[in-house]
This record gives sequence, structure tokens and C-alpha cells, in this order.
Amino acid sequence: MPGFEVFGEEEKKEIHEVLETGVLFRYEFPEQRQGIYKVRTFEERFAQYCGAKYGQAVTSGTAALKVGLAALGVGAGDEVITQGFTFVATWEAIFDCGAVPVFAEIDDTLNMNPADLEKKITPKTRAIIPVHMMGAPARIEEIVAIADKHGIPVLEDTAQAAGARINGRHLGTFGKCGTFSFDAVKTMTTGEGGMIITDDEELWRTMSEYQDHGHDHVQNPGGRGGEGRSFIGFNYRMMELQGAIGLAQLGKLDDMIAAQKKNKAALQEAVLQIRGVTFRNIVDAKGDSATFLAFFLPNAEKAKKVNEVLKENGAGAVYFADNSWHYYPKWEHLLGNKTLAKNGWPFKDQDGRRRVIYDPEALPASAAILDRCLVYQVPIKLGNERLAQITAALEKAAAV
Ligand SMILES: Cc1ncc(COP(=O)(O)O)c(C=O)c1O
Repeated sequence: MPGFEVFGEEEKKEIHEVLETGVLFRYEFPEQRQGIYKVRTFEERFAQYCGAKYGQAVTSGTAALKVGLAALGVGAGDEVITQGFTFVATWEAIFDCGAVPVFAEIDDTLNMNPADLEKKITPKTRAIIPVHMMGAPARIEEIVAIADKHGIPVLEDTAQAAGARINGRHLGTFGKCGTFSFDAVKTMTTGEGGMIITDDEELWRTMSEYQDHGHDHVQNPGGRGGEGRSFIGFNYRMMELQGAIGLAQLGKLDDMIAAQKKNKAALQEAVLQIRGVTFRNIVDAKGDSATFLAFFLPNAEKAKKVNEVLKENGAGAVYFADNSWHYYPKWEHLLGNKTLAKNGWPFKDQDGRRRVIYDPEALPASAAILDRCLVYQVPIKLGNERLAQITAALEKAAAV
């Protein structure tokens, strides 16, 4: 990752076709666009690639979460369970729907712990969002089984795991719907962009209308502008240039993943020089999209020391326990209830009463896992020189 490493003639050709028509809008202009509908084609091909019936493109992975939750009917007074190791977007979208995020622990998959999920279900739980962090699956079959038992829909946040599978079945197709991000640093990228996939036609139609101001997408004599609306919506529409790049990148996704797998194996071999190292539990190694290599040291002190040496030698790893983008105790704006709303929403009700309090110590099991975890991002292109530098750094760190 990311997919811009392999930008080439394919992306240029797709973009050129759009510019030739002059139509950047995904709808309308039937004569001018000469049959070219890049976003629509991208939706169809991405859904088909994942083995889903429908795809809905939107402006970002964050928007995909928002549109998916809105279509599932999530609103004020509801709770949505996700995990304390994810990108902030997952819970921003929950708040944006008026609901309250509830955080479950992770396990050695670095994704949602199903047993802790079950403990956190209440009568207010309206949806569950497991996140397939860093390219590899959550224990999604167990999670869906628990959710089904309680009659709660699962939205899979697959932002970081396009193309990953379990026994050949794509992540994002296990729950009611799955969301994806194609932002600038994702394996397949459109700069900014997102997608929701589902097998549920009605859910898809709802999403399709919601992301387009609620306009019903029923052909009528008035055409666009003459349509009705069944509910209020918003604008999360993807534009044709993003759809064009998405088509080119989708065509390369399996090759990008294959290259990452090869590079991940080489990095893993190098990491094995460190005594006592263990690796993240990958639910299905064959289906891993191999965007990251996560490994564990015996304790936090050792992890920090090893990383110091790696940094000194130009091959520092990510220590997510200190990461303010992805880890619950580091989200100071969440923990500190920071909001622009004068009345304190979404942390307080209009009458000033607190809706929720977040305790930084609330996820001890996640802390025990992430405190001793180091992570390398796996590039699509890994030159021999860089691999040799990382290997040499790891050799030095092995002596710590
Ligand atoms: C797990 C997760 N969810 C959602 C998003 C949001 O995606 P975007 O950046 O496209 O809004 C990201 C982006 O990094 C992510 O990692």
C-alpha cells in the first residue's frame, strides 16, 4: 500500500475518457457523456469483484459509514458498538447519526473481541461495526452469529481491507453491508472516495437516494429535478474522475495484494531474527491483503526498546499504543468531550445532561495487546536496498 505506487497509463486513459466528454457529474447529461458512466461502472465492477449484488459509491470511507448507518435507520438514542482500535472515522460517523459509540476490546487478531462485544450489547444497540484493521479479518463469522442471535445488523468497516477474504469470501460481504475507503493511502485509491456493498436491494436503494439529497431514483417525466423524496438526505456523491481512477485501480488490486504478500513474507522473515517475537493472529492467511505486518514482543518495555533501535537504524515501526489517530486512550477530543456545538452535543443532551462518559482506562485488554505490538506498513514495491536496511536494523534490534 498505497495504490499510487502503481499509477500508470491505465489511470490516465480512464481519466482522459472522462475529460473528453466534459461530464464530471455521475448523473444526467445523457447526450454529452456518450454512454460513459464511470462511477456507475465502478460500483458494478467493485460489487462484482467482492461477490456482492450492489455497490454504492460515495465521497469517502467516512461518508460510506455515515450512509450505511443512516440507511440502517440508526439515530438519536441508539448505541452502536465498534472497537477501541480503529480510525476516528468509525465513531465520528456514529456520532454524526446522533447515536452513541460503545467501544469493545480487541483480541490477538487486533480486531473486535467477540466475547467482549456480546457483553456490551444492550437493548439500545442498533448496529455493530467490526473493523477489519490493517488489511486482515476480524472474527467476522463469530461476530455475525452473535449479532444475529440478538437481531442486530452488522456493518463491516472494511476501509483498510479491500480485496481481503476468508476462505475466498470477501470481507464486507458477511454483514448486512460493508464499507470501503479509497483515500490517498489505501491499497486501491481514488484520492478520496468510498463504497458500500450489500446484497440487500432495498438497503442499496435507500443508500443510493440518501447520498443524493434523498432524491428518489425513479425515472419520471420531469427527469432529474422532477423527482420526489421519501426522506431527507445529504450530498455524498462520488464524481466521475474518482470513478475512472477506481476502475483502473480495481483492475490492479489482486496484483497489488500479491506483491504485498511477497513483501510481507520477506519482512516477516527479517522480523524473526528477534527472539521471542510472535505475530498477529490472521484468521485466514491466504485471504490476508497483507497491507501490514504486526508483531508482538514479550512486553511493552521490550517493544519500545526494540523500536528505538529500529528508529536509530532508519527502520522504525509504528507503535499504535502511542497513536492518536487509531487508539481509544489517545483520542483526546473524544475523552475530553470536545465539540463545536455550544450545547455540548453529542456528548450532552440539549438539556445539558451528559449522554456518555468515556473512561481512558476502559479497555485494559486492548492496552495489554497494543502495548507490546509493533507494526510495519507493507509497500507494494519493496526494493532490495530498503529490505536490506530493515533486515540490518532488525538484526541490531535482536541484540537488545
Ligand atoms: C478503519 C477506517 N474506517 C474509516 C476510514 C475513513 O476513510 P476515509 O479516509 O476515506 O474517509 C478509514 C481511513 O483511514 C479507516 O482506516
